Amino acid sequence: MANIIVLGTQWGDEGKGKIVDLLTPGFDIVARYQGGHNAGHTVYVDGRKIVLHLIPSGILRPKTLCVIGNGVVIDPRAFLEEVEALRAVASVGPDRIAVSAKAHLILPYHGVLERADEDRLGEKKIGTTCRGIGPAYEDKAARRGIRAGDLLDLDVLKGKIADNLAVKNPSMRACGLEPIGAEEIFARYAAFAEALRPYIRDTSRLLADRMRLGASVLFEGAQGALLDLDHGTYPFVTSSSATAGGACTGLGVGPTAIDAVLGVTKAYTTRVGSGPFPTELGDETGKTIARRGDEFGATTGRPRRCGWFDAVAVSYACRINGISRLALTKPDVLDGLPEVKVCTGYRYKGGLLRDFPSEPWILEKARPEYRTMPGWPSPVRGISELGDLPPAFRDYVRLLEDLVEARAGIISTGVEREETVFVEDVLAGLVDRPAVRKP
Ligand code: IMP
Repeated sequence: MANIIVLGTQWGDEGKGKIVDLLTPGFDIVARYQGGHNAGHTVYVDGRKIVLHLIPSGILRPKTLCVIGNGVVIDPRAFLEEVEALRAVASVGPDRIAVSAKAHLILPYHGVLERADEDRLGEKKIGTTCRGIGPAYEDKAARRGIRAGDLLDLDVLKGKIADNLAVKNPSMRACGLEPIGAEEIFARYAAFAEALRPYIRDTSRLLADRMRLGASVLFEGAQGALLDLDHGTYPFVTSSSATAGGACTGLGVGPTAIDAVLGVTKAYTTRVGSGPFPTELGDETGKTIARRGDEFGATTGRPRRCGWFDAVAVSYACRINGISRLALTKPDVLDGLPEVKVCTGYRYKGGLLRDFPSEPWILEKARPEYRTMPGWPSPVRGISELGDLPPAFRDYVRLLEDLVEARAGIISTGVEREETVFVEDVLAGLVDRPAVRKP
């Protein structure tokens, strides 16, 4: 059985939760490799809306083991609250969830300092979720971070909290904030340690052992390729490696263990937070898409910015992630529009850019070049048979496929599991028939 990565090809919120949930019965393990509780993966089961932030969507299927890798940053309180909330709908516990001992922890000062930093930036703010994600990764890179494994020895934990506060409290004071007491944090995290201990494992070893026995793994990305720290629209990005490479470093798995990458792509584009977004619509169509698509952040509730499908951006995402197959989501949101547009290039300083530029200030000024297609007169909402999709919609999909050089293996036509068209046996397609990319 294949091991695949499932990740978002845009700025997050592509509907990865539903796709991972759909594919999970074909896998023994779902492993998350980056991000933290900034993510919000929404899954609908029997009309019930379930939002997951940290725990992989695989938890909603009865037998899947869920792994939270070293590349993830964990707020212990958020993790434990999510475990409790899930008890009503899933079996949860250390037999179902393993947390890497090497995963870094989010501490209370991370969120507080992040908010102060965003306030200081004012108009230039990143528009982060203020969950302490970026500052936790900063401490990881600065080599002073506190990891889940440190919870296993309370003396070590105490020492590390004291060392960190010696750095953080002067920063807190400089921002006009009250310093944080070491004892208070230690007491709180010692209590978390008690609850978290059974989940903490050497997850790289665990994955290797299970894969050797034939287990298949779905590697679950959070956020999206265009929010990747290296390859996204820096500095308007998240602080982790949301692209396919992150699966290896974020879980301690070699690239040879991974067979293919499935890209999840919305039939239009959304973005939450600041940063360039060439196809953003400030008009009534944008508002219609936002309303119909219920485009509000699953984590912060912020309205998402909406726009047309950007084939330049998604083509770039397919290239840097090695994507040959797509799961196309939410086309039903475009049902009934008289016409739909697809960005095929950017006009910049009199020229036409066909490649996604590295510099956000170029992207900021780039004007999209559109190909306009007729809308589809009958809705795609709820369709589950390929043959029932309206011809005009199939033309739209074909155009996207040609522009981004990847095939749609799955088309999601609604929020429920049943509202899905399987264009092919996507897992077999991914592994056996990689898309041919133009030289
Ligand atoms: P951070 O991840 O909280 O540091 O936020 C950095 C940027 O990533 C902001 O623009 C956020 O809105 C965006 N972001 C973070 N997580 C998600 C997500 O799950 N979906 C969409 N955008 C996200």
